Amino acid sequence: MSAGAERSPFAGRSVLVCVTGGIAAYKAAALVSELVQLDLRVRVVMSAGARRFIQPLTFQAITGERVVTDLFDPDHAGVQHVQMAAAHDLVVVAPASANTMARLAAGAADDAVAAAVLASPAPVLVAPAMESTMWDKPATQRNVERLAADGMTIIPPETGRLASGAHGIGRMAEPAAIARYVRRALGAGGDLRGRTVLVTAGGTREALDPVRTLTNRSSGLMGRAVATAARDRGAAVTLVTTAAAEPEPGITPVPVESAAEMARAVKRCLPICDALIMSAAVADFRPAAPAPGKIKKADRPALTIALEPTEDILAALADGRDGWQRPAVVVGFAAETERLLEEARRKLEAKRLDLIAANRVGADRRPFGAARVALTLINRTGINRTSTVEPLPELNKEQAAHRLLDRVAALLGT
Ligand code: CTP
Repeated sequence: MSAGAERSPFAGRSVLVCVTGGIAAYKAAALVSELVQLDLRVRVVMSAGARRFIQPLTFQAITGERVVTDLFDPDHAGVQHVQMAAAHDLVVVAPASANTMARLAAGAADDAVAAAVLASPAPVLVAPAMESTMWDKPATQRNVERLAADGMTIIPPETGRLASGAHGIGRMAEPAAIARYVRRALGAGGDLRGRTVLVTAGGTREALDPVRTLTNRSSGLMGRAVATAARDRGAAVTLVTTAAAEPEPGITPVPVESAAEMARAVKRCLPICDALIMSAAVADFRPAAPAPGKIKKADRPALTIALEPTEDILAALADGRDGWQRPAVVVGFAAETERLLEEARRKLEAKRLDLIAANRVGADRRPFGAARVALTLINRTGINRTSTVEPLPELNKEQAAHRLLDRVAALLGT
């Protein structure tokens, strides 16, 4: 995210990462690297156990900050660990050993990690890592419940190969997954906090027979970027999507395939939404009579498919069709090969949108599946509902999503 001229939404925020004893301590280096790449300032505290698995120098090299290892370090003795803990927006304990969780549950402050967690007023994320036998013990489960009841967020361990070679639950969540929890926690106070945003993503697939579908080139990346960015600004997000993806904390996925399924899911979710962002490429037509069995080529020299129109979700909202509840802000996308602004303006009016993101589609298939995009934002303002046009530079999709959400937040009056 630090690539390009745009500032990361997390720039200037800081995270204290507490690393405790366990083989997963090596994965904490990858986590810290991910956090640094979000432009976060990261400080690492290590327990004595952690230092048996990985050297402080590793974290120092990644963060550019001295690693805290000792409660009685001359630099951090006395109340200094309190000041250090207070200077961060978030604390992450990863990996959290069974022993560490027991000490945190008891409110201990007998080493640098426990003291930092106890002294910090910031939210705490805990990523446990241990053998299944230890995880399953009533004492550990009691401690997990205690920490959750105390307000800490437990990032569930995964099932897989453990350090002992056994297969079971207890592997620390992957660094990328922990980073997603960090983003959600840091975004909780953002300008979309308390708002519910519904985003659609991906190209719909319309059944031709049980094996084949008619679809388009949309990858769903733009919609996913909008959903992630909205979550990172504090919104509760529902993502109605045709594209499979990793689970994201703070984003409720609603998997769909066809335009009809997408329309039903959107209609169902709308009553609790403040904003709808339709970035999905919804098919305009579907096979009128999908075959019940696989169509065989031997049966026919040529195939003609009769198509019928699908429901237009945004048009249904604009017309106030039965059961469709319009949220405060409605955003559309327009992917066009020609007359980009003219077509986008026409859709803005016809679908009574507050904002449309126009997107040029080239013969080279860009921007489908691409990391970067050059959107033009057009919204309606003033008593005459005149439109304003803002061409954005080429940005990565997440940066473009934030620019779009700047407008959504303004329209919501946040
Ligand atoms: N859209 C929708 N329901 C449909 C088709 C499109 O809600 N059945 C939404 C898209 O998600 C997008 C906007 O309408 O936000 C514009 O979609 P687009 O395909 O560009 O426009 P169409 O109205 O379908 O017109 P055309 O395909 O002729 O350009």
